[in-house]
Amino acid sequence: VDSKTSQLIDLHEQAAKLYHHILVNTEMGQPALDYLHQRGLTDATIKQYQLGFAPDQRLLKPFFEQRQADYQLLRQSGLFIENTAGELRDRFTERVMFPLRNASGHVAAFSGRVLKKSDDQPKYLNSPETALFTKSRLLFNFDLARSAIRQRGEVILFEGYMDVISATQAGVPNGIASMGTSLTTEQIYALERTTDQIDICYDGDEPGQRATQRAIGLLQAHSKMKINVIQLPQGQDPDEYRRAHGDEAFQQVMQSAKETPIRFQLRYLRQNRALETDSERLAYLNDVMPLLAQVHEPVELDLYLKQLANEFNLDQSALVAQLKQVRQTTAATRERQRPTPARPRPAANDP
Ligand code: UTP
Ligand code: MN
Ligand code: MN
Ligand code: MN
Ligand code: MN
Repeated sequence: VDSKTSQLIDLHEQAAKLYHHILVNTEMGQPALDYLHQRGLTDATIKQYQLGFAPDQRLLKPFFEQRQADYQLLRQSGLFIENTAGELRDRFTERVMFPLRNASGHVAAFSGRVLKKSDDQPKYLNSPETALFTKSRLLFNFDLARSAIRQRGEVILFEGYMDVISATQAGVPNGIASMGTSLTTEQIYALERTTDQIDICYDGDEPGQRATQRAIGLLQAHSKMKINVIQLPQGQDPDEYRRAHGDEAFQQVMQSAKETPIRFQLRYLRQNRALETDSERLAYLNDVMPLLAQVHEPVELDLYLKQLANEFNLDQSALVAQLKQVRQTTAATRERQRPTPARPRPAANDP
């Protein structure tokens, strides 16, 4: 670790400490503290994640100026916005602060959440990319969760910071978040070095479901991890589920609401299809055949085929025949394709 990096980390850790102090010890932070309490977080959790509050423009800048921090370092930290005159102002104001720690447990960036939803402000504002922070590489909570992931033999992939924090408080410590719905290959490689099983638990709304479908494809293409999908009731996200049903129910769902990717995809691909017409039904069956063609366990396959045959009032033997055709076609296609070079693995960046 070069000295600039360690100076930037030092800056971030001082800022995290200060934001946390403002949240828990000052009048200014009281509304934000009430907000987090209302969302069901305990003081222990708030402390564990070093959550904080950024009040107004006049926090970080005077604090670091007083300590004679290097101007160039402040510029490069991402904690400030620079105006055309070259003056720095605090980037985060009026926001609940979530320190984003890297895999070694050092604060590398922040995300700040507005207290009240508004149309002209993003709900979460993240630090810009800096020497410390590459958004596509960071996995929220990976530093704290790593040992639990190893112990339990699986990682739970959430969308949001609050989902991870809520899960930890509920006694589910092996959760991480992909910084929203866009899981990346870099994140997948980092996870695969730690575990061979991943449970996708994205939000139960449409963007969350779409992202689940995308994540399944990406994980299958870039890893050998065993994948489950944890399906929450319509519309809810994991944190909302915990708030509505309590810690025990939350633990229960994380253990028992797991389904196979195919089961998820069978349901996902039929959304927004009017399955009353023959052509729509056939289109749906055409969509799912290539998925079923990848299932090689006879019992598992039988499970899906029975369900489809029942739902569509078909002979299971017709489905089997069609499946055979699809398998032959894909095998023939694969034959014709040239072998692709092995994908490069990124250098290990574990501490
Ligand atoms: P969600 O919209 O599902 O937010 O986005 P959330 O996690 O449920 O947050 P709360 O409960 O309203 O506080 C999921 C994740 O997407 C990223 C954040 O990482 C967030 O946790 N996100 C979302 C952003 O980066 N910016 C945004 O404006 C919104
Ligand atoms: Mn309170
Ligand atoms: Mn969401
Ligand atoms: Mn959410
Ligand atoms: Mn939420």
